[in-house]
This record gives sequence, structure tokens and C-alpha cells, in this order.
Amino acid sequence: MPAKTAVVLGAQWGDEGKGKIVDVLADRFSIVARYAGGHNAGHTVIIGGKKFVLQLVPCGVLRPDCRAVIGNGVVLDPMAFLQEVERLREVGVDVSGKLFVSNRAHVILPYHRMIELAAENAPGRMKIGTTSRGIGPAYEDKMKRSGLRVVDMLNTALLRTHIQNACHEKNTIARALFGTDPLDANKMYEEYARVAERLAPYIADTALLLNQALRAGESIMFEGAQGTLLDIDHGTYPYVTSSSATAGGATIGTGVGPTAIGTVIGVTKAYVTRVGEGPFPTEIHDTTGDLLRARGQEYGAVTGRPRRCGWIDLPMLRYSNQINGTKWLVVTKLDVLDGLDSIPVCTGYKVDGKLTDTVPADVRGLESIEPIYKNLQGWQQPTEGITEYAKLPAAAKEYLKYLESESGARIGMISTGPDRDQTILLPEFATALAAISATS
Ligand code: IMP
Repeated sequence: MPAKTAVVLGAQWGDEGKGKIVDVLADRFSIVARYAGGHNAGHTVIIGGKKFVLQLVPCGVLRPDCRAVIGNGVVLDPMAFLQEVERLREVGVDVSGKLFVSNRAHVILPYHRMIELAAENAPGRMKIGTTSRGIGPAYEDKMKRSGLRVVDMLNTALLRTHIQNACHEKNTIARALFGTDPLDANKMYEEYARVAERLAPYIADTALLLNQALRAGESIMFEGAQGTLLDIDHGTYPYVTSSSATAGGATIGTGVGPTAIGTVIGVTKAYVTRVGEGPFPTEIHDTTGDLLRARGQEYGAVTGRPRRCGWIDLPMLRYSNQINGTKWLVVTKLDVLDGLDSIPVCTGYKVDGKLTDTVPADVRGLESIEPIYKNLQGWQQPTEGITEYAKLPAAAKEYLKYLESESGARIGMISTGPDRDQTILLPEFATALAAISATS
């Protein structure tokens, strides 16, 4: 019997609407666990017309019977975390006793933000267009084996020495390379020692917690952040984030073994968006792009930056499904395409005059790539809020069938609006979910 778990991840460059999907599915799982990224992610969830933006806390906390875990693969800004918990409390969501932070997660400190801001804005540096949250520098320290983990914050002597040494190093680099004013290590230590006390009730050995839950027959959803093409290994490097957004990240970033992954659910928009720099073969440069941006409210949940918009890219989607072993696809924002006469769908690329339907590793290839389009018929009837597949316009069904046949995964769910209820759940997927979440 497959494990009672599912990974839910972004199949594109992030912002696919995972927040809503995780929220819709969360009531079928005992635990929702985040495995990568940090507060660069922004999950917008709308419940009964009320809007929540979650950056670190997994969407599961919004469901009364669901516990939430921030796994070891996440980089945690303790200030951002505590502020988010406070904001949730203000809107009536009590997380006490149901939200756990991995003792092995790495911590983002103010010098990570200082270094990132200075480096991104330094003349002559290649711009990634990061979210400026210190995510990349915190992962650099982790890999360099000079990071601070959540558990280390509880050891005041270690915390003091770590902050003093790190500040000395980072201040020296930032001043020498970018002329940045130094940060005060003593003040930082005092502030973070107080923060550690407030963080302490949430800290747990979450790998142990998750494995015990699995042994007890509980179900777990692993919630991805960002998207496959922003993955440090499999994305459009170097225009990527610094963690493993793909399905493999779920095991490394939480401490459960690969055999514990039951199924993989990839979330894709009915079109594509990207924020930040980097190649985007199907980007629309005319007013249709502006139309999709306006209709889809395509502005970054964290930074407010306008998202670049483009047509669905099937080689990219196939690539993503292959890397993740995706079994089920969830297609979001179908309603944004309502009213278009025809919808171009990218079926392959021309690179240096040669046709290909695979994604090149070289981003210079991606920049000069020429997408090959097939035009599918659009639909004029509104799909917003439709909850039954049979009620979709015939052309919308054809569009979805084509995506499914070309993508290598089954479509299990379609989102037709931002609210929890504006969702079509297909019967086979409902059966698969019921098997995962059934208590043993
Ligand atoms: P970083 O994650 O802040 O280092 O940014 C690296 C790249 O990932 C930039 O292009 C960001 O715009 C992008 N990025 C990071 N988080 C998200 C997200 O949640 N949605 C979409 N793009 C993101």
C-alpha cells in the first residue's frame, strides 16, 4: 500500500496557487509540512472572502484538526515567523500546540539580509531579482557549514559567540565589497536571545514527530514552496531560489525517507507567470500579457512586483512532471483565460534553427529560444466559480484534455476562482485522496 502522504508543489516558477490547493486539501490530512524556502514564499488563501497571506506557516494551520510543521529544509527568519503567528492570532487563528518548527532548520539573521541587499544592488553584479529576505545567504551559510540552526538559538553561549563571529566576518565583507555600515553584534545577540525564548515553545524534533505520525497511520501533506523551475538543481540556474523546491526536497527537507512519499501533486496555472529575472520562453510582450496580469491579479504576494505573464509551456510542464514524478495535476486560474478567441499553447522550441521538445540546460539557450505554438480554441462563457466539470464550456474541456494528454500526468482538480469553494474535484482524484487520508 502506498504511504499516506502527498507532496503538493509548484510545477512552474512559483505562484501557481498552491496556497489555495493546500488549504482545500488540508482537511484530508493530519499534518501539513513545509520542506523548503523561507518567507520568500507568499501563499494567499481566501476563506469566506477573508484574505490571509502566509509566508512561513503552512496553510494547514487554518484547518482546526490539522497540525503544521516547518521542516529542517526551511530557512527560518524568527522575527518574520513570530510576526506571522501574531497576525494569525489577531484574525482568530490560534496555532498553539499545533505548529512545530524543526530544531534543525537554519536561521536567517540580519546580516544575511544586509549581504543580499548589498550584493544584489552592487554595480556590475548579475541580478537575480531576489525577494531580498536573506534566503540565499542563509542557505550559503548552511552549505558552508557556518550556519546557525534553530536548536542553537537555545544555547545562549553558542548564540552569542556565533553572532559575534558571523558579524565580524559579514561586516568586514560588506564594508570591503559594498561599503555597507556594520551591524552591532551585541545588540543583535540581545535581541535574538529574547526572540529565542519566544520561539522555544514551537521548537521540536519534527523529523521524529513526522516519522512517529507515519507509524501511527496518520496522513501527511508535504507543502512545496516556490516552483520546480526555481529549484536550485533543476530550475533555470542561476535564476533560481536556493533550495530544493522539487519533490525530492520533501524527504531531505523534513527527514522522512523516499519510501514515505505516496503521491505527487503538481500545481500549474492554465498559463504561466514568473517574477524576478531569468528566461521565460512563452512570455507575452503585448497587451494580452497586461490583460492576464490584471485579470489574474498577477502581483507578487511578498514583494508586490508585477509578475511576467505567458502562455502555457508544455515542454516545461512535461519536464517538471518528469523531475517530480508527478502523478496528479491541479490546474488553477482557468477562469483568467475566459473570453479569449484563441489560446496559444507552446508545444516545442526552436533553438539555433533546430526543433526540440525538451528543456535545454543552458539558460542562454532559453533566452534565445523560439517557442512553437499551436492555437487552441478559446471559450466565451465565464468559468469563474464553476464546481462541476460537466458545466465547463466544451472548448475549456478540450483545452484541459490537451494539457493532460501532453503533460504526462492526470488532471485531478481545477480551480475556477480564489475561494476554497471555487474548485472542481474530479472523481478519480477524489478516490485517490480518500485512499491516502483514510485512517488505518
Ligand atoms: P530568493 O528566493 O529570494 O533568493 O529569490 C530568487 C528567485 O526566486 C527570484 O527570481 C524570486 O523572484 C523567486 N522567488 C522566490 N520566492 C518566490 C515565490 O514564492 N514565488 C515566485 N517567485 C519566487
